Amino acid sequence: MKPVILIVGASRGIGLEYVRQFSAAGWRVLATVRDMAKGAAVSKAGGEVYLCDVNDAASVARLGKGLAKEAIDVLVVNAGIYTGRDWKLGSTDFAAFEEILRTNTLAPLRVVEALVDSVAKGNRKAIVFTSSRMGSNAQTNGGSMPYRVSKAALNSVAKNLSVELAGRGITTITTHPGWVRTDMGGAGAAIDVSESVGGLRKVIERLTPADNGRFFNYDGSELPW
Ligand SMILES: NC(=O)c1ccc[n+]([C@@H]2O[C@H](COP(=O)([O-])OP(=O)(O)OC[C@H]3O[C@@H](n4cnc5c(N)ncnc54)[C@H](OP(=O)(O)O)[C@@H]3O)[C@@H](O)[C@H]2O)c1
Repeated sequence: MKPVILIVGASRGIGLEYVRQFSAAGWRVLATVRDMAKGAAVSKAGGEVYLCDVNDAASVARLGKGLAKEAIDVLVVNAGIYTGRDWKLGSTDFAAFEEILRTNTLAPLRVVEALVDSVAKGNRKAIVFTSSRMGSNAQTNGGSMPYRVSKAALNSVAKNLSVELAGRGITTITTHPGWVRTDMGGAGAAIDVSESVGGLRKVIERLTPADNGRFFNYDGSELPW
């Protein structure tokens, strides 16, 4: 049987490339969009399309219920936003800060809550959070505080889950996809989606329980928290 991967947030960018590459590598790919109008690109890339807005509790619960019978080998939580790039101390937009925390930090936890039982039924039992090097407290060089904090807190969610879920045999990691040419990364970014996901795919395909609780760069090297 084909291994099964679920990509949450697959409409474009890194998520859509995950669908393309895992499908081409012979995996069965389940993938979510929050707007069915974007589903055509995902099915063309080889994914089975599901609807999910990660900020909508009912939508995430529906996804979990719809996939309850599936055994999911790898869950990739990829959806994310990057607001507050021009953040400066003294002009913090607290409403926008709350929104980025909801999307990048709390929503990934909600997704895991809805899908963990399906992951526990898979052979590989892996949860992969899409974080960012910008969330590394050890490496921060300032600026964009809302995004950095949201990803640092996501790293903490992942690290804590790696302990909580170890008893169920689940391997939980976070990844940095590189600075990637997508709508988010911009045209001047360092690498394209194919290089980023090509590296991440290798990281995912060779995951073992010894990797639980680690933070990986797309090239397979390890990043500090
Ligand atoms: N690009 C980079 O250089 C870079 C670097 C480090 C980390 N990352 C991380 O990598 C991930 C993917 O980034 P990307 O560059 O591919 O970004 P992108 O091109 O902006 O795509 C973002 C994806 O997230 C989805 N999304 C956003 N909010 C959502 C919500 N509430 N519910 C469901 N889906 C939602 C988007 O769906 P819609 O199409 O519906 O908006 C889209 O599929 C993000 O977590 C990002 O933080 C990216």
